[in-house]
This record gives sequence, structure tokens and C-alpha cells, in this order.
Amino acid sequence: MSPLTGHADSTPSDRSAVLHFPEGFLWGAGTAAYQVEGATAEDGRGPSIWDAFCARPGAVLNGHSGDPAADHYHRYAEDVDLMARLGLRAYRFSVSWSRVQPDGRGPLNPAGLDFYARLVDALLDRGIIPALTLYHWDLPQALQEQGGWGARETAARFADYASAVACRLGDRVPLWATVNEPWCAAFLGHAAGVHAPGLVDPALSLRTAHHLMLAHGLAAQALRAAADSRARVSVSLNLSPVGAATDTTADHEAARRIDGLLNRMFTNPLLLGAYPDDVQADTSHMTDWSFVRPGDEHTIASPIDLLGVNYYFPMTVAEGDAALGPSPWPGAETVRFRVPEERPVTAMGWPIEPAGLTKLLRWLHTRYPHIPLLVSENGAAFEDHVDRTGQVQDIERVCYLRDHLAAVHAAITAGVDVRGYFVWSLLDNFEWALGYSKRFGITYVDYTTQRRLFKSSARWYRDVMAANAVPSC
Ligand code: FCB
Repeated sequence: MSPLTGHADSTPSDRSAVLHFPEGFLWGAGTAAYQVEGATAEDGRGPSIWDAFCARPGAVLNGHSGDPAADHYHRYAEDVDLMARLGLRAYRFSVSWSRVQPDGRGPLNPAGLDFYARLVDALLDRGIIPALTLYHWDLPQALQEQGGWGARETAARFADYASAVACRLGDRVPLWATVNEPWCAAFLGHAAGVHAPGLVDPALSLRTAHHLMLAHGLAAQALRAAADSRARVSVSLNLSPVGAATDTTADHEAARRIDGLLNRMFTNPLLLGAYPDDVQADTSHMTDWSFVRPGDEHTIASPIDLLGVNYYFPMTVAEGDAALGPSPWPGAETVRFRVPEERPVTAMGWPIEPAGLTKLLRWLHTRYPHIPLLVSENGAAFEDHVDRTGQVQDIERVCYLRDHLAAVHAAITAGVDVRGYFVWSLLDNFEWALGYSKRFGITYVDYTTQRRLFKSSARWYRDVMAANAVPSC
């Protein structure tokens, strides 16, 4: 059965058993344009907000930038070979808007579109499904200078860009995502100032979040109009279960606020057609929400075929006394985030809690029962190194992936409609404000030589995909 249209029931999960996934389950791995491509000034690409942000002293660790990243722009054919050797069924990548349309409006850059056409054709030649994301945070800088996502106009420009990409690739790309993680783009970029464009303006960040969601809705409509009727349309949200650190009313209230800003602020307009009242009330001292115009929520709720879920860790929160500085939580600046002491963490300091993924998928299924889910990102950074035998033995990552796949399996067994799983990431890459200091890949990249090397996790994942099953532990 097609992974994008339905699958049969799975077998129950049990840690000591082999966990079989539904027939047609879509196994993939992901990257994003700015994190892997490099070649930021080649073949007519225009600058994006991430080029500008990286050039700002102190913005990115060690002054790193998206050049050369994994040099994927030049090495895409070699990388597609790697994917074929792994037996990847699908590859999730993003298109750089400023490579395709350097000013974010007006003329297209044929060389930029050609690159993605070559990539898509190379994938299809190897039987790998292209899963294309239109926006993974790299707004053309020219649009930033005209107000960026704070300007409603940018949503309309995004729909035009979506049409242009769909006109060129809509006959060959079966799976589309509009926007990746609008929470990060809006709140890390415009409230905390730690991502591009590096602004600290909580009221603006809420307007920005709305314009990103509006852009999603308009682009979803544009994709329906321009792409093949079989194309599936999705959006990827970073979502997490949010729990209170203690049983106090204050901590429960903090959890409600964070859940509102992280999860429901995005899932409710998308799937229920309205922003949550509590989030609007929590932020009413900074904005009157008049940026939401009549009809906008209806546009945002334009039908989608799948919801992409990016999961890394659950959040445990407590109320604090005062804000500690710029915060990505408008209206909830005093909330503190706790890592339970006994929890192992990744190299990002993120707690490892696979059960959070089952919980999240079940929560989504209960609240929004009709939307099929796709885990569009999950993975971990660890301190990888090439050992004396020339191997990267990333056993922690194997365990991380195994336990999170078991968590997905448990959700499927409980009746949640999960169509696929994409590991983040195929390649080590530029981890945004942390530069090249964090490695998320199942493939190691030596940034001096650009040599690729499968880590143990890549070999393990290859076997999982081949068996359509996770081996017992
Ligand atoms: C997600 C981003 C992705 C990557 C992972 C680690 O928030 O979508 O680009 O940075 O985190």
C-alpha cells in the first residue's frame, strides 16, 4: 500500500521483540538547504537572512557560516549515491528560496531551479522519493529589508515562490512541505534573537508567527493549483509534550502557557481553524492580534494531507520570578525549563525521552484524529569522532534511534496513523547558531576534505529500512 495514502495495522510493540512497521512505511532522512549546500554565492543565488546573520560578529559560534557546509550543492550526486547505498526510500531536503528567486520576488534564477531539478531527477533515478520543503528558515535578505516575516506581503511572496517551484517540479515531487518549524523561525528569530534575523521584539514575533502560518496556507493552496493532483501537501512543526515540574498551580499554569505557544498556537489554526483563546489572552498586553484578518484562519486551515512532526525532547517547566533575558516565549518569559536530573542528555543538552514521542503522537491523534502524521525530524547530536580503525562508532545514536522508533511503533500500535519517519540528519551539517560544533548526521562529514563516512547508526538504519523492522534490543 502507498505510504502516503494509507497502511495496514501493525503488530504490537514489545522491547524484546522485533518491531515490524506497517507495509509501505516511509523511511527517510533529512537535510536543509542552508545546513548542507554551501555555495552561497554561486550561480546567481542571492543572500538570505542566514548569510546576513552569520556575518554579524558573535551571532554564530566560532564565526561559522553555511559555507562550505557539506558542499552538497557540488556533491549532490555523490550524496544521492550514499542514499541509494543506504536504501533510503525518501529524502527530505529544502529549497533555498534565494537560490531560486534571489530577491524573493520577480525574476527566477534558472540555474537555481536547475539544481533542484537535477537533484530530484537523480533521486527518482535511484527510486528515492523526493520530499521537498519550501522554507527551512532562509528568507531572501531582500525581503527582510522590506519587513521580512513581519510584513504580511511576505506571505503572498511565499505563495508565488511556491507556485514557481511547483510549476517546475510539481510533476515529479510527490511530497511537499510548506514551512519547517514556524515556532523556531518566529520566536528564536524575532523574540530571542538567537536565529536569523536576530531580532528581539516579542510583539513582532507573534505577528511573524501568524504571517508564517498564513504563508503556509497560501502556499498549500498554490501547491494544489500548480502541482500534480497526486502531490501530498504537509507542514512540519516542532512539537513537544509539556509537563509541569511540580504539582503547584503556578507550574501547571506555566505548562499551559508553553504548550499554548509551542504546540496549540500552530496546530489549532492549522487543524481546527482558530488560534487558541488562552494564547491570545496571555499575550494581549503586547499585541491586540489585529494582524489576524478575517479569513486568515480559514486560509491557514486549508486542507493538508499529512502533518510533519519534528520531535527532539519533551519540556518540563516551572514558573520563575523574572525573565532572565530575551526569551523565545512571548508572554511566558519567566518560565524556567528543567532537565530532570536522572535523564541522559544529548550533546545539545537535550533530555533523551523516547516516551515523549509516543505521548506526542497520541496527543495529536486524540486532538486532531483525522490528520495522518509523519515524523519529519528526529535524531540527536553526540560527540562523534573517527576512531583508530577509521570508524565512527556512534552507539549512543543507535540507541537513541532504536528507542525513538520503538516509541513510534508503540503509537502506531495504539492506533495512531503514522506514515513514516525521517531521521535528522543524513549528513553532519551546519547546526545554525552552533555552527559546525554539533554533529547530527548518521553520515560523518570531514569538513576539511568533505569526505563522507557512514557512522554505525547509518549501517544500523540501513538494516532497519531493509527489514522494515527494528531489531530487538
Ligand atoms: C530542528 C531544525 C533542523 C535541525 C534540528 C537539530 O529544529 O529543523 O534544521 O537544526 O533541529
